[in-house]
Amino acid sequence: MPSDDDRIRDRAAYENQVRMCNEFLLHHQQVMRDIAGLRVGNGALVKPLDAFWHDASFFKISPFVEGLQTFSAEVVRSWSTQRRTIAIRSVLLALRELHDQGIAHGDIKLDNIHLVETPSGPVARLIDFDDAYRADAPPLSTVLGGTEDYYSPEVLVYKGFAASPTPLPLGFASDLFSLSLALHEAFSKDGRKPRWGGRETTDAGMCAISGDTVDYQPLGTGRPLLEYRLKLCLALEPRHRPRVTELLSACGTNLGRIA
Ligand SMILES: Nc1ncnc2c1ncn2[C@@H]1O[C@H](COP(=O)(O)OP(=O)(O)O)[C@@H](O)[C@H]1O
Ligand SMILES: [Mg+2]
Repeated sequence: MPSDDDRIRDRAAYENQVRMCNEFLLHHQQVMRDIAGLRVGNGALVKPLDAFWHDASFFKISPFVEGLQTFSAEVVRSWSTQRRTIAIRSVLLALRELHDQGIAHGDIKLDNIHLVETPSGPVARLIDFDDAYRADAPPLSTVLGGTEDYYSPEVLVYKGFAASPTPLPLGFASDLFSLSLALHEAFSKDGRKPRWGGRETTDAGMCAISGDTVDYQPLGTGRPLLEYRLKLCLALEPRHRPRVTELLSACGTNLGRIA
């Protein structure tokens, strides 16, 4: 039999969950308003349609996408240089669409980049806008989400987890730092995030702040300029990272039409 103390604790935990659901719902509704105007374009952005909570659990609704496959080292291992570049270009196109509307995704990682096979090749679907925000009005540091292993230096500073001698403004370039890590994880030969200072680590942002050197392995795209620019996306200072358009132009033009 649960004691009165247990019941009070359970009740408090439940009420805390409900409070978090309510806060998250408000945030989600704001995100849905912010991205409502986005052109669905080539379908690369799977926008949320609605969200709600029930019994202290949170639910979100988006159009079901048939045949989604998670981007992973296993899936892409046997791919040609052309297929690799087509997939990377489609992720960049999705991100450009979002950034052009003033929205940062806030949680770029392999789990949130899926693929569908089209006649033109593998095309990315960017999902999970839970942590998206208007780049000109980022949320409070306690609310800013994302996934720790992919935090950019500026996110670490914004959240108060690290200090930096130079100002590191939070904005679109943060997505590119995370994307560069994710693409290395998918396409480099060993299927891992890059090593920093000669060792494996899950703290890429912290390593960049400490001035460690990154070891960015080839991604097998056959496009040295693209890979060089993706490595630059791991620069400490956001202003030193290439923009999405610069990455796109390094993908080349001879890739066929993307569905
Ligand atoms: N629109 C969709 N169509 C089909 N499957 C989806 C869709 N959106 C998400 N999924 C599946 O649900 C998983 C979790 O979705 P996501 O939005 O990333 O939720 P979470 O917030 O839990 O990370 C994805 O990895 C994918 O497998
Ligand atoms: Mg997700």
